[in-house]
Amino acid sequence: MTASFDAVIDRRNTNAVKYDKATLKAFFGEENLQPFWVADMEFKAPEPVLEALKKVVDHGIFGYSARPDSYYQAIIDWTRRRFDYEIEKEWIAYTPGIVPAVNYVLQAFCMPGDKVIIQQPVYYPFARSIINNGCQVLDNPLLYQEGRYEIDFEDLEEKAKDPMTTLMILCSPHNPVSRVWTREELTRIGEICLENDVMILADEIHNDVVFSGHRHTFFASISKAFEARTITCTAPSKTFNLAGMQASSIIIADAKIRERFNRVLERNSIGFQNPLSIAATEAAYRDGEAWLEALLEYLEGNIATMKDYLAEHLPEAVLVEPEGTYLAWIDLRAYETDGRLLEKTVVEKGGVALDGGTWFGPSGDGFLRFNFACSRSMLLEGLEGIKKGVMALKG
Ligand SMILES: Cc1ncc(COP(=O)(O)O)c(C=O)c1O
Repeated sequence: MTASFDAVIDRRNTNAVKYDKATLKAFFGEENLQPFWVADMEFKAPEPVLEALKKVVDHGIFGYSARPDSYYQAIIDWTRRRFDYEIEKEWIAYTPGIVPAVNYVLQAFCMPGDKVIIQQPVYYPFARSIINNGCQVLDNPLLYQEGRYEIDFEDLEEKAKDPMTTLMILCSPHNPVSRVWTREELTRIGEICLENDVMILADEIHNDVVFSGHRHTFFASISKAFEARTITCTAPSKTFNLAGMQASSIIIADAKIRERFNRVLERNSIGFQNPLSIAATEAAYRDGEAWLEALLEYLEGNIATMKDYLAEHLPEAVLVEPEGTYLAWIDLRAYETDGRLLEKTVVEKGGVALDGGTWFGPSGDGFLRFNFACSRSMLLEGLEGIKKGVMALKG
């Protein structure tokens, strides 16, 4: 099973953003880079997904399409089987991506000037969406202690108390620090938010990519009270490498919140979904589980390879223990404290494109985010690139 993950698939000239020369040039100033940035994988989607897509293509008609009951059932069954959480068809709304959903939530529930809590370093489109919708970013910075990230609950309490705070965007599991929040941590977040009447948007896009020894808890599954104040965002995008299909499930149990959210979708005419994405999503959730298990095993092998490589070649680098997501967060401050210089040198001397730590907020300075969802041979090329860049700094 692992053999297919070892295959190197040439993605150049396939319209992949990650490899697109103009995009690389715009972000990194160079176009001939080996890419480890954009969060998609170098692997083909599961065979049942490919078969479902071929069936639609062979039929040859791509007209307006409706989601069948079996589509919803596949999502409901997956959520029950993998997370022990029971959801209902009526709770599930479709949006063409989670970032769009974040924007719709801001439009539905926040007034311009409202404050929205995020936990930096965090997926940077959150801050952009908050600002684009006229709201204010209220950072509850994560605490970095001995190579591990924790939540500063005292600070969170302070920020939730602010009367202007209406929403918290929770990244669970967390990109880029790779934490899979425990049930206890999530419970405390929920209690603080509920006490202060702060709604929660739980972005759980990475919830299926969780490594041995860790378990993802659906935030809304913790209690009926949490469920009633939560909008959960999930998608097959990260799990099955289907990001380009742009299919997300926005799960809302509370009827009033749902109605308000759906009204924004209505105002923007969001509803129809393309026939390929309907087929891919249903097939992935219904028949993709064995593939996912094999993927997780392969990714754990990549984590072991990264650890060995760094221990041997960059012993002062700290790989923040990956608990979930296929994005490694590497602390290189022992080699260089100027984050921008580090990022520039890794590009120019290492020939690799990685998300710079500074992209995720000021606390990301001196870190790099490394996408390790690739073949082992490509992984080693990436690590070599990082080493070359860091060595150039030292030399
Ligand atoms: C936490 C998080 N949310 C959302 C997204 C992107 O979601 P979408 O492509 O569905 O807008 C990503 C992609 O990396 C992510 O890491």
